[in-house]
Amino acid sequence: MDKKFENFLDLVIYQIYPRSFKDTNGDGIGDIKGVIEKLDYLVDLGVNAIWLCPCYKSPNHDNGYDIADYRDIMDEFGTMDDMKTLISEMHKRGMKLIMDLVPNHTSNEHKWFIESRKSKDNPYSDYYYWFDKPVNDWQSMFGGSAWEYDESRKQYYLHSYTVEQPDLNWDNPKVIKEMQDVVDFWVDMGVDGFRCDVIDQISKDFEKGNNFFGPNLHKYINALFDREKTSHLFTVGECWAGDIEEIKRHSLPERGELTTLFQFNHLDCGRANKFNRKDDSLKTVRDIMVNWQLLNQKNGLVHSLFTDNHDNSLFISRAGNDKELRYESATCIATMFYLLKGVPFIFQGQEFGISASEYDSIDCFNDIETINVYDYLINDKGSTKEEALRKINFGGRDNARRPMPWDSSEFGGFSTHKPWIKISSRKDEINLEKDLASEKSIFRFYKEMLKLKKDNVSLRRGDFAVISKDDDNFFAFTRIYGDEKFTVICNFEETSSISLDVIDGEPVLKNYSDRGAGESNFRPYEIAVYRS
Ligand code: GLC
Ligand code: CA
Repeated sequence: MDKKFENFLDLVIYQIYPRSFKDTNGDGIGDIKGVIEKLDYLVDLGVNAIWLCPCYKSPNHDNGYDIADYRDIMDEFGTMDDMKTLISEMHKRGMKLIMDLVPNHTSNEHKWFIESRKSKDNPYSDYYYWFDKPVNDWQSMFGGSAWEYDESRKQYYLHSYTVEQPDLNWDNPKVIKEMQDVVDFWVDMGVDGFRCDVIDQISKDFEKGNNFFGPNLHKYINALFDREKTSHLFTVGECWAGDIEEIKRHSLPERGELTTLFQFNHLDCGRANKFNRKDDSLKTVRDIMVNWQLLNQKNGLVHSLFTDNHDNSLFISRAGNDKELRYESATCIATMFYLLKGVPFIFQGQEFGISASEYDSIDCFNDIETINVYDYLINDKGSTKEEALRKINFGGRDNARRPMPWDSSEFGGFSTHKPWIKISSRKDEINLEKDLASEKSIFRFYKEMLKLKKDNVSLRRGDFAVISKDDDNFFAFTRIYGDEKFTVICNFEETSSISLDVIDGEPVLKNYSDRGAGESNFRPYEIAVYRS
């Protein structure tokens, strides 16, 4: 693997959704000072980088993904000085900051759009896509037509997301230059990389049935990152690419585009079907991950390892047992993902097994996508309220966006004030303080696992090979680097008898404390890692 890319395999990234992480000024909204306050906690956990969801100036129609000023901070989150402090406090601790870059659209309150909508001939008139009539029948990702008529300009503009998120016209070289300047602004500020929001949509082909992978996509990504100033960055693209050739076009090192992509196949949740429970068994997930591990490894690509983020329902509640075997499944899932070859992304709260909560009223939800789906189910599909609630409780994005329950106090130690969105209904049962007090602490397991990874190069850079067979109800794989070798075994729901030669020595990592040497029976979600 390319040297620069290989170094990135030492990263362990923690994703922060700032609105819900930690509130320090008692307004019920998380803020940048809250992130600073928790840096030592993250160092203790063992992460060395943060992906921070958008914290730029925004009217929040899509919680910060509608940016009104790429060079300023949202008032609720703090100030540019807070941001500078965050960067320097992180660098002091040897941590990298990955900012969220949203290049596909701005807010309709961005100065470019305010100018653009005024007339057909102003300096910003071609910053967005304007037509006299919709030129196709593209739909917004959040439902309804992707075209909106604007009274002042008397034309239609494209919005792939909410009406308040007009798509930028990347075919205009001025837009490319603007976005390069935004990137450079943050690089000068000291950020170490970017997570690129819906990067696969920035080039359009209006003749196509959908708004992905347009003809100039790679030219535009290359323009952003193949420059002297940016070539050292770690970049990850949110991308729904499903085939290896497309992935190679994005992230082969010599192309100067992205370091890695978020691939979503294992979550079985294309945007359209994430509200319906499908086959989420860990066995299926294993097979998908093995396939990508091998393909990425063969091609020298960096694999992003994640189960959760702010757009999906919580993985443990989809694919594991988040009730009586919550500790076992949380640790099993962590092991089967984060000891693979690639860059781990841990979503806030995952490190103590945060699980889906349930609500019996739409008033407990905030997310635009979730609310639109609820209305659609009731008005267009004739669903009952109960059915619609069941679906959004299962698949809605709010589950992942509820305030971090640091302890069991009224507002979970997140704030002294009622939070902007209802805290998890399971807060008293699942919170960090309680986890740490428990004999079976998910946090302590994560810490141990990340330490093992830090201390052993093979668990970071070593080759991956699978041992388990398709029919097996478990996942067994090795990581080898030079003469250092680890064997990882993760059993799924039921007890399995696993008679591999390797099960000889003492496990160096386990989630059932009484597992001894040489035992071949693995209990539900039991894992063991052996060094040989
Ligand atoms: C990405 C973000 C999501 C947002 C959308 C529009 O998918 O992760 O939260 O709603 O882009 O920016
Ligand atoms: Ca606050």
